[in-house]
Amino acid sequence: MQAKLSMIAIAAALCLGGNAFLNTTVYAAHSDFGCGDCHAPHRAGQANDAGAYGVPLWNTANTADGLPAFQLYSSRTLDARDISQPDGPSRLCLGCHDGSYESSKMPSQAIFEPGDLAKIHPISFTYDSSLAARDGTLNDPLTSASGFGGTIDQDLLDEKHKLQCSSCHDVHSTGIGKYQLRWQYSDSDAVMCSVCHNK
Ligand code: HEC
Ligand code: HEC
Ligand code: HEC
Ligand code: HEC
Repeated sequence: MQAKLSMIAIAAALCLGGNAFLNTTVYAAHSDFGCGDCHAPHRAGQANDAGAYGVPLWNTANTADGLPAFQLYSSRTLDARDISQPDGPSRLCLGCHDGSYESSKMPSQAIFEPGDLAKIHPISFTYDSSLAARDGTLNDPLTSASGFGGTIDQDLLDEKHKLQCSSCHDVHSTGIGKYQLRWQYSDSDAVMCSVCHNK
């Protein structure tokens, strides 16, 4: 039902001239993009890019030609078992942020090189109750509140229950600050980390 509503919302936005929402909202970034740069009304998602599963109707223009092979995060203490090459919504982000997207506005520090995913917070892995139990210092995503009205699983993970770039970033007008995060963030403020980590 939610998926259906999302598709209707996107279809409505695109049919009504695409940028209707952009004109009334202030974006911290991506301000020069329309909804259609990330969402597509036709031939979305898997039609062109098998890794870009799911609603809401990804535009695969920037991922259909593939992504570089990323070196993935690993550590001795990591409990996640299925970290993979970026999938789901993370592919959408990296389709532009992998350096292949031509834009003079893209800051160089916002480009992820093939080795880089080893140096950022792990993404594209299942975050479920059993991971929380194995780890011991993670909140259970099925029962812990996200702070946005539902659980971590409902509000922050994708439909395969995976943690993705979009778990922390909200690239819509609701994202906060220069980095379009879901929470206020500074080095001294661990609020966003403690939504999931309880140490
Ligand atoms: C269609 C291409 C495109 C897609 C898709 C895209 N971005 Fe961007 N992003 C850009 C460009 C270009 C900029 C530079 C600022 C601008 O032009 O708005 C940017 C800027 C940013 C910035 C600000 C960087 C800074 O240092 O100021 C963040 C954070 C960001 N993107 C995160 C994401 C995330 C997370 C996703 C996926 C949910 C994503 N982007 C998807 C093209 C894209
Ligand atoms: C830079 C890429 C980007 C742009 C531009 C963008 N979206 Fe999204 N959109 C996403 C991502 C990633 C998700 C999934 C994660 C989330 O919900 O934030 C999403 C989710 C959605 C959803 C379903 C999830 C929900 O309940 O919020 C709708 C509806 C939507 N977008 C509509 C729009 C509309 C309308 C616009 C234009 C005003 C737009 N999007 C612009 C990347 C983008
Ligand atoms: C665990 C939360 C989290 C995840 C997951 C995450 N980010 Fe971020 N991201 C942040 C925070 C916090 C910042 C700002 C502070 C910093 O740079 O450490 C940031 C900064 C950024 C910036 C700006 C970098 C700069 O210096 O200009 C970009 C671009 C970005 N993220 C894109 C992404 C993309 C693409 C993904 C997925 C591949 C992703 N992020 C995954 C939390 C996250
Ligand atoms: C949406 C939930 C979520 C948020 C928000 C989040 N994390 Fe995580 N983080 C996780 C999960 C799940 C793991 C995987 C833990 C594991 O597999 O052992 C993880 C892994 C990590 C790891 C690697 C742990 C290891 O054993 O190698 C570090 C470090 C980390 N997070 C730090 C942070 C910091 C710092 C922040 C805030 C900027 C943050 N996280 C925000 C869910 C989150």
